[in-house]
Amino acid sequence: MKEFIENMPKVELHMHVEGSMEAENLWKLAHKNHYEIEYNSIDELKAAYQFNNLTEFIDMYMLGTRVIKSEQDLYDVCMTYFEKCVEQNIRHTEVHCDIRTYVDYGFPADFVINALHAAFIDAEKRYGITGGFMPCFIRHLGNEIAQKDLDLLLPFKDKILAIGLSAVEVGFPPSLFKDTFKKVHDAGIKVIAHAGEEAPADYIWSAIKDINVARIDHGIRCLEDEKLVNYLVETQIPLTVCPYSNVALKIFDNMSQHVLPIMLEKGLNVSIHSDDPAHFNGYLTENMISIAENTSIDKAGIIKMAHNAINGSFASQKRKKELSKELVNYIKK
Ligand code: ADE
Ligand code: ZN
Repeated sequence: MKEFIENMPKVELHMHVEGSMEAENLWKLAHKNHYEIEYNSIDELKAAYQFNNLTEFIDMYMLGTRVIKSEQDLYDVCMTYFEKCVEQNIRHTEVHCDIRTYVDYGFPADFVINALHAAFIDAEKRYGITGGFMPCFIRHLGNEIAQKDLDLLLPFKDKILAIGLSAVEVGFPPSLFKDTFKKVHDAGIKVIAHAGEEAPADYIWSAIKDINVARIDHGIRCLEDEKLVNYLVETQIPLTVCPYSNVALKIFDNMSQHVLPIMLEKGLNVSIHSDDPAHFNGYLTENMISIAENTSIDKAGIIKMAHNAINGSFASQKRKKELSKELVNYIKK
């Protein structure tokens, strides 16, 4: 099973670029840019990759953003992740990277756009990896800032796959951003949102009813509301589940308690992703292996979720067909 998963062609739909910065790389970049970090060694920094909840994690995640000082730095962080994709047979990846953080540091809005756009062009040329990026509004900064972010993003709408909603969830339901996401839809941009990660099922309803999402990041707490589960099964809205993230952020005590087998069994459109792989101890392959080894999900379940990831992506129909064909051929072999 381990080997089957390692070699399987994969699609990733939920990964935050700065969350792929291993402690060693973060440390090196801090030193290159003469940024003084509050840790005395790489080991100390590594040891700080420990969290009790999402808010604690977001604090650490921000350190990664603070050591990035140029478009080239951000491009390099992306490229390091794409090299990991090659190792893990990830063929298509849709990644998160917020513009607000860098705008607040004094960089122009196109800082993130240019870096990620260039990285994706080179990833396709060099490695055949397709995909794109999806900036998120930082929900705990509120709707006014989200509106400002949208104004900054609109001139670049052809360079982004979707706009999402991320960061501290509890206290910041999607409904707060209803008018801004209406403008996102009016501009013809797809909408996604983190929902039901730490906050209850109501936040998932809000993502559906108030901002009309095409896809939900996490969504694991949908199981608390039977009506919602039925709705999600009926509509097949994709849920991008991140098992290691959920364990690292203490949603579950360990992987064997993860609810993914129940979600799959109920017919929800679930797939596996890594979220912030450097912080949560595993990239896409490790997430899949851990689920296969610690829960009742078997090979058929892993294959079903690999298909769900392809179908739930924002790739063109042509690219989806290619990805499906490669997966089917791999399984036959
Ligand atoms: N930003 C980076 N990782 C995140 C997560 N798991 N939830 C919300 N926002 C995030
Ligand atoms: Zn996330």
